[in-house]
Amino acid sequence: MNIELIDNDMKIFQISLSFAFCYGEIGKSDFESFLELIPPIDLVYAALPKPENFRLWYKLAKRAKISHEQFFSGLCKIWKEINAPEYHIEVGASNKQQVLDFFSDWKEFPYFYERDLYYSAPLNGKTKGMAKCRNPTQILIYSLHPVEVPTVKYSHEYVEFIMKRVKKMNVFDPVIGKGLLARFAQINGHNCYGIDMNRERLECTIEYIQNNLRNS
Ligand SMILES: C[S@@+](CC[C@H](N)C(=O)[O-])C[C@H]1O[C@@H](n2cnc3c(N)ncnc32)[C@H](O)[C@@H]1O
Repeated sequence: MNIELIDNDMKIFQISLSFAFCYGEIGKSDFESFLELIPPIDLVYAALPKPENFRLWYKLAKRAKISHEQFFSGLCKIWKEINAPEYHIEVGASNKQQVLDFFSDWKEFPYFYERDLYYSAPLNGKTKGMAKCRNPTQILIYSLHPVEVPTVKYSHEYVEFIMKRVKKMNVFDPVIGKGLLARFAQINGHNCYGIDMNRERLECTIEYIQNNLRNS
């Protein structure tokens, strides 16, 4: 693995040509150097940190909290720079309108879908287990082309389905956490790139992806 230190608060972990992850804080750091390194992205997925949980995510990351607005405006900048043909964004009641407003102000996507889900994410970097939560969320899908949208219960089932496509894709998650997207991208032969500000959560992603590369 090649590790590039951008500054004290930002590192790029280039695991292979197919997987690269950036440790850094959206809303504070500038991700230009990371975004320049990765190829054009075909699909963006993100289970966004909700405003009511934002304090908790910062506590877990052992960082001084910025405002949720500052985070969201940094995130919108990244979404625009990536300029992908397809976005799948998990939201809750408290941040759905913010995401709807961003996409309607930004550009027209001819295809829009929404489905109910329950949040889930990997338990750790060693097993296939998922932490399943009864917190209802919704997935909003903006796309330039028609998308087959599954009716499933949990985030991991949703991501598993959208990663089952045969055509090889470059996929991106700006809040990749423990790496739900990266896991299913790897199983299905896609390339995956992502960002997170929590070092331990990002290490879970790296550990799982590296172990599977070694065993394949
Ligand atoms: C709902 S979780 C995402 C779960 C993810 N799908 C997974 O597989 O673990 C939200 C993530 O956002 C990250 N996060 C919150 N604020 C952030 C910020 N300002 N910059 C980067 N990451 C942030 C948290 O550390 C957390 O991992």
